[in-house]
Order: sequence, then structure tokens, then C-alpha cells
Amino acid sequence: EENLFSSKTEKEIHQQRATIESAIRGRVDFETHAVKLGGIQGHLDEICRSSRIYMIAMGTSTHAALATQTILTTLTNKSVSVMQATQFLDMDEPISKSDLCIFISQSGETADSKHALDYCNQAGALTLGITNVVGSSICQNTSCGIHVNAGVEVGVASTKAYTSQYICLVLLGIAIAQAHSITGSRVREMSIEIIDALRELPGKTEEVLNQKAKIRHLAHLIQEKQATIKESTMFNREQSNSLYILGRGFQYAVAREAALKIKEIAYMHAEGLCASELKHGPLAMVQDNFPTILFALKDRYQEHAFNAMNQLVSRGCVPFVFITEGDELELARNFKCKENVPFHIALPKSTPCLQGILAVIPMQLLSLYLAQARGCNVDQPRNLAKSVTV
Ligand code: F6R
Repeated sequence: EENLFSSKTEKEIHQQRATIESAIRGRVDFETHAVKLGGIQGHLDEICRSSRIYMIAMGTSTHAALATQTILTTLTNKSVSVMQATQFLDMDEPISKSDLCIFISQSGETADSKHALDYCNQAGALTLGITNVVGSSICQNTSCGIHVNAGVEVGVASTKAYTSQYICLVLLGIAIAQAHSITGSRVREMSIEIIDALRELPGKTEEVLNQKAKIRHLAHLIQEKQATIKESTMFNREQSNSLYILGRGFQYAVAREAALKIKEIAYMHAEGLCASELKHGPLAMVQDNFPTILFALKDRYQEHAFNAMNQLVSRGCVPFVFITEGDELELARNFKCKENVPFHIALPKSTPCLQGILAVIPMQLLSLYLAQARGCNVDQPRNLAKSVTV
């Protein structure tokens, strides 16, 4: 199997069917829809009593928090904040005994996150670690925790740990809702819908991975646009090595994570934006051929995403669009232009809360293919270390 892949990162991306399975295994009863997380069981009452929830992390782990913030807010009916560990410390955020502070860290050794954890422990808050390394500092210094069980991650760019963090956070939300006996039908229905969708998630992950030829083609199309820009006098040099990635709602975190991956391993400037921000500034960079990727998956934000698509199209920029399977006609109907519908890739349908997992995998593959095409060292990007302990 080792020889099938040219880098550890590529291998880790392709392990995600199995790692997603192991994040779920033993924690979900698909018959009764009950979720049980051994590492927090003894603290569930206290967790349910907490007044606010903070999710604290750095880099990709922050994006896992961002991706699940809305889901956790709904499931727990509490106010949920997402903060970078450094920003959290810079703000002197007032923390008390009644707060739940969740630390998300693949390595469990990130210095910035550890400092924020010390601060929360001193304030007497309840702390919960979500880590991939058993016995790591963050594991040891939190009151309780959830292991993401993704297996050793070697590539500097975090891939399989991210999707497992995402699942653990969603499971945490459901466990809180169930323990709280939040019986409001909306929360109960949502929990059941997520659990049913989790059962099918590993298979759908495989389906996404099987679309890699299309993603490779997308990498090629992006490079083609950038080459055209390089030759055009309409643009400046910055624009010829740049890419916008746009999402709304659940897909905003996907856009942010995609941009980080692309910068990190392909050394290409990429920016992940909330689609609603376009007209507040970023649109000024956009002209013909400026490469943009837009997520317009089936959820309650889809209409806004299509709106952003047309804002781009009216500036001569036709984005590459990710849609949900079965939405091809929906895309065509919403595309307000006489030209052919944009290049698009359809992802398997899941519940809106979990689509962020299926959507991030093509972005991991895209960053990999862009990096390969540009001759970058995928596993060991320049200037970076796997775990930032200083
Ligand atoms: C990006 C990446 C970093 C880490 C960050 C936090 O691919 O891997 O952004 O996510 O340094 O690391 P952990 O999760 O180990 O605390």
C-alpha cells in the first residue's frame, strides 16, 4: 500500500475512510441512536451545567472548531466561542468555574494551546482535550477528553486528524444534548439525522476519494488560469499566484482550511472567505480568469452561495463550483449568464452538518496536486514543523 502513494500526506489523505470509521467506532449505537464517549462520561453532568463553551486551538485544529461551532451551539443550546489560543490569551478573556474550555490539538503539544490551557486551569474552568496523541501534555492536563483515534500523523499538514476532530466535536455535541435530555424535537431530530448520516459517512468518504481524477483536473485548470493572468497586462503579479475559496455557513470553515492547506504545501497564495464578504472588499481583486472556488452545497446557505457566484460572474470571473449530487439543474438554473454552466464537481449528499467533512477532502487533494505540480516537498513544507512546541 505504501508504494501506491508518493508521500505520507497523500497516504494519510487516503486513509480517511478508515480513520473516520475509527473516530465513530464503539461510540455510537446506530440502533438506539445513543452516543457514549468514555473519556467524558464521568464529567457529563458538569459539562451540561457549564454556562459557556470555548473552543481553543491553533491552525487547522481551530478550523475543526469553526466547522462545528454552529452544530454545537444548536445541540447544546449554549453560547459557543471559537478562539485561537494566542488571541484568547491576548484578550485576557474572563473565564470562570462555570465555563467549559475545549482544547483541540492533534499533537497535544502545541505551546500556544498549552499556555491557554494553563490559564483556564488556573481559573478553575472545566477543561476537555480533543487530541490524537495519547499521553500528550494536553491529554494529561485536561479534566477529561476524547481521543480522535486517527493514528500517527506524519505529514506536517494535518489532514486525517482534522476530519476526526470534526467527528469528535459533533459526537460531543450529541452526547451533551442526550445527557441534557434536550428533548426539543429539533435537537432530537438533528441528533438522529447526524447519527444516521455518520453510518454512511465512511462509504461517502470513499466516493469522494474516488473523484480524484476530477480534482487533479481542477488543479490543472487553476494553474491554467494563473498562467493566462501572468501574460495579461490587466493584472498585477500578485494576482497570478492567487486563489479565492468561498463558502457560506458550514462551508466557511472548509474555505479557510482549504486556503491554509494550499498555502502550506503548495506555496500558493489562497484566501478562504465567507462569500458574503466579497462585496465588502475582496471583489476588487477579481477580474477575468481570476481563479475562484465556490462551495454551493445543499443546505440553508445555498442560495447565498449562488448569489456570490453571480457577483463573480458579472465581473467576468466564472468560479469552479462544488455542489451536492443531484443539484446539477439547480446550478444551471441559478447561473445568470448565457455561457455554459461553470466547471463543477458534485459531492455525495449527507446531512448539512457533515458535508464539511466530505467537502474538505477534495481540498486536501487539491492542495496535494497543486503542490506536486509545483514540485514542492509535500510532507515537509519549508519553514514549518509538525508540532509547534515553542
Ligand atoms: C496545518 C497544521 C497546523 C496545526 C497547528 C496546531 O496543516 O497542521 O496549523 O493544526 O499547528 O497543531 P496541533 O493540532 O497539533 O495543536
